[in-house]
Amino acid sequence: MCDCCEKSDLSKLTPVFEAFAGDDHALISILQKAQEIYGYLPVDVLYAIAEKTGNSPAKVMGVATFYTQFRLKPVGKNLILLCKGTACHVNGADSIEKALVEELGVGDGETTDDGIFSIKTVACLGCCSLSPVMMINEDTYGSLTPAKAKEIVRKIREASK
Ligand code: FES
Repeated sequence: MCDCCEKSDLSKLTPVFEAFAGDDHALISILQKAQEIYGYLPVDVLYAIAEKTGNSPAKVMGVATFYTQFRLKPVGKNLILLCKGTACHVNGADSIEKALVEELGVGDGETTDDGIFSIKTVACLGCCSLSPVMMINEDTYGSLTPAKAKEIVRKIREASK
């Protein structure tokens, strides 16, 4: 799927526009809701938001690219948040990242061809005593070793088939 040839179902935005009708300062909230609906912010959705809110497409795109919470590309079914904060770094986060790259063939900010995994490195997941740590969707995996990290993603990949 790509943004230039794939059209989003824009009717899903109708309740969002209704909820924020008349609120001139709701652009970020609308973008957040749109991302919840589509999983990311496709280009045609950004244009629809621009038109509906009376902002220029450049402004909407500027806001969407400024805040790290917004994603402009689809993410995989399973989002791996790999911690590279200080505690995790000291305890081997680099070797975990290397193992994930070896296993999945993609690195930070990328998605596997089968759409099953995306990897994103983050600064701290708030559970430093378990370092090194990664989260996959809502689940936290601590005290990782390279072998353990590979085994976890292998099991998830098997279950996703
Ligand atoms: S540094 Fe990794 S969880 Fe805090």
